[in-house]
Amino acid sequence: MNQIRLDKFVSERSEYSRSQIKNLVKKGEIRIDGAAVKSSDVKIDPENQKITVCGTEIIYRDKTYILLNKPAGYVCSTDPKDGRIVMELIPPQLRTKGMFPAGRLDKDSVGALLLTDDGELAHKILSPKSHISKIYIVKLANCFENNYINLFKNGICLSDGCQCLPAKLRPSEKSEKLAFVELFEGKYHQVKRMFSSVGNHVDFLMRISLGNLVLPEKLGIGESMELLHKDVENLFRTPDFDDFCREFDRNFSAIVIKKLI
Ligand code: URA
Repeated sequence: MNQIRLDKFVSERSEYSRSQIKNLVKKGEIRIDGAAVKSSDVKIDPENQKITVCGTEIIYRDKTYILLNKPAGYVCSTDPKDGRIVMELIPPQLRTKGMFPAGRLDKDSVGALLLTDDGELAHKILSPKSHISKIYIVKLANCFENNYINLFKNGICLSDGCQCLPAKLRPSEKSEKLAFVELFEGKYHQVKRMFSSVGNHVDFLMRISLGNLVLPEKLGIGESMELLHKDVENLFRTPDFDDFCREFDRNFSAIVIKKLI
C-alpha cells in the first residue's frame, strides 16, 4: 500500500494549488471513494482509493516521465551499441529498466524528448493514429518563402511518394531563415524532407513542444527534468500555433534564438 498526502497527490496531478485544495476540502468538493474529505493533509492510498475533485476523478499513475532537452550527437536509443545514447543524459537513479525514449529526434536534432517507463502512454504517443502536435523551430539554408505555407497546409508529397498530413508553417520574426513547423505525425526525417521537397534545406532543427508541453526556457541543452503527472496530460492538448510562435519569438530565446541567427 503506497500512502501519500492528499494535497500533494492532487496538486501534482491537477491545476489546483495546495491553498486552493484546502478551500475545496472546506467546501466538500474533494471526495475519497464518494465521501467528502475533512482535511487536506490526510494520507491516501491512490492505487486503491478513488479521489475526485469537483466531481472529476484524479487518475493515479506510478510511472516516471522525463523531459530531456536533447543535444546534438546523441541517438534516441537504449542500446549502447548505437553510440552515444540519450539514456546517458538522464539521472542514473532514473535509468531504470523499462525507461526508453517515447519518440525520435535525429542524431543532429535537439530539443524536447520524452522518456518514460509507461509503455501504454508511449504507445498512445507513438501510434500513427495519435496526431499529437509537435512544434519545431528550424534554421534554413535559404530564406523562407511565403508560398511554403500553402504547400505545407495542403500536405507535402515527399520525394519517395509518401504523402504527409497537412502541417502548419510560420516564419519567425527574428530572421528570414528561421521558421516554425507544426506536425501531427512523425515520419523518418520528416521536417528535413518536407523542406527539401520545396527546394530548401534544414541546417538546424529543434523541437520546442510536444502537445501543449513546452520545452521550458530554463532547461538547458543536455538537461532533463522529471515531469509532474499533470504535465503529461498536456501532451494530448494542442496549442494555438500562431500564439505559440509569437510568444516564442517574443520571450523564449534570448539564448536559443541568438544561437540560431
Ligand atoms: N523531422 C526531422 O527531419 N528530424 C527530426 O529530428 C525530427 C523531425
